[in-house]
Amino acid sequence: MPGPIGIFDSGYGGLTVFREIEARLPEYDYIYFGDNARAPYGVRSFDTIYKYTLECVRHLFKMDCRLVILACNTASAKALRTIQQQDLPHLAPGYRVLGVIRPTTELVGRITHSGHVGVLATPGTVQSESYVLEVHHFFPQIQVFQQACPMWVPLIENNEHESAGADYFVEKYVQELLMQSSHIDAVILGCTHYPLMWDKIRQAIPAHIHMLAQGQIVADRLADYLIRHPEMEVLCRKTGQRAFFTTETPEVFDTKAGIFYGKEVRSRHFEL
Ligand code: DGL
Repeated sequence: MPGPIGIFDSGYGGLTVFREIEARLPEYDYIYFGDNARAPYGVRSFDTIYKYTLECVRHLFKMDCRLVILACNTASAKALRTIQQQDLPHLAPGYRVLGVIRPTTELVGRITHSGHVGVLATPGTVQSESYVLEVHHFFPQIQVFQQACPMWVPLIENNEHESAGADYFVEKYVQELLMQSSHIDAVILGCTHYPLMWDKIRQAIPAHIHMLAQGQIVADRLADYLIRHPEMEVLCRKTGQRAFFTTETPEVFDTKAGIFYGKEVRSRHFEL
């Protein structure tokens, strides 16, 4: 039986990806699942992020999602490969889980001319080296320079990202990245929260450097995936329904979610 497409994030960030997916593929049904009660994931250990992500993915499977997108770099970096290679074959062979890192790395390789690419991401994503490994997999000649930005997610989640205080941390992490190489000509915003600070980050990065956010990239790749995998496409229901679940209280989620999603959200609580 066909079911919704599941969109998972540790919290709100995945909504910046979901809004683009929904704009690109409005006819499908979607369930958004934010593990807000346990966010942020970016500062947690590999084992914890893997355990939490798998648990939430299994809940989405139980809600009939045959296809789940990890709209979170941290979860994609630390959990996706193990889920795909070790868990799915015996837990849920007919189900698929996709991430956000591979589509982004495939694109950046075509954009850079200097072969020096920068990544701004959470400490978890940086430590995992996932961007370095994925870029090298497709483009061995490209050098990847990473910068962890531990303050950005808390600033955004506390709605302080427009404040003057945020300027300091934007400037600091961008400078630390650009100091690693003067040839960087493409920078990936490797965290789904960061598009909320797009203007500030854009101002701090010289204009000749390309800046990539993931929403549209992931939406395009999902559309492409559904064309290439008709056996999965028929399992994705098309009645245009949306549902939002949060492990936090819905009142808290709904207040902040609109900032990321761009329109009003009415969520339901999910008890883990
Ligand atoms: N939105 C998540 C990402 O893309 C990070 C948020 C978190 O640390 O939980 O990496």
